[in-house]
Amino acid sequence: MTGSPRQDAISFLQQLAESEPVIILEPVALDKRKLLAEIERTAADCRRCNLVDGRLNVVFGVGNPAARLMFVGEGPGADEDRQGEPFVGKAGQLLNRIIAAMGYKREDVYIANIVKCRPPSNREPSTVEAAACLPYLRRQIEIIAPQVLVALGKTAAVYLLNLNPSTAVKDLRNRILEYNGMPLVATYHPAALLRNPEYKAGAWADMQVAMKLLSGEIQWKSNKEDILSSS
Ligand code: URA
Repeated sequence: MTGSPRQDAISFLQQLAESEPVIILEPVALDKRKLLAEIERTAADCRRCNLVDGRLNVVFGVGNPAARLMFVGEGPGADEDRQGEPFVGKAGQLLNRIIAAMGYKREDVYIANIVKCRPPSNREPSTVEAAACLPYLRRQIEIIAPQVLVALGKTAAVYLLNLNPSTAVKDLRNRILEYNGMPLVATYHPAALLRNPEYKAGAWADMQVAMKLLSGEIQWKSNKEDILSSS
């Protein structure tokens, strides 16, 4: 303490800043955070499908509410169910490495899943479960409004884009798809990369497309806008 109340206050704030990470959110991110928190409160009590019976936690989503890049996976596994956060297990560690290789921190992006409750024995969510849960995710995407969406695996792409469930990832990757006016890049799920390391080069090529969309190196225009502007 210096004796001067002003100096004391300044040195207190300086010490605090050194010991605590100071996260300064822009006003727009604060609004988005508030909107997301409202949906999270609703989702916390959700009983819209049978997955409620086995869950420990509703795994809502994590990350920057104003993220430019958003990842969507399939559904929580055991680790995610226990911790209430998506992609915290082995697949999550690989996703973290992919995010870092893209030049981002996990806190910069937003991560969510098609379903917010763990399907028993990590099975794929059923169409009924996905349909029950999707309104939450669609609203999350609407609020966050990322510049690029990445669908991790077939389940994410199929349910976001309303495709035939028998569609394979290999038929969706290597091109830019569209979700509600935003570019969507589909790639292999990190768990599939752990099982099949030979897919990693393809997944990295997909992430480079996402990065080029973010940097503006690839200019992308909505097909729907084309239709609207030409009509
Ligand atoms: N797999 C997913 O699809 N989501 C997670 O959150 C974890 C593993």
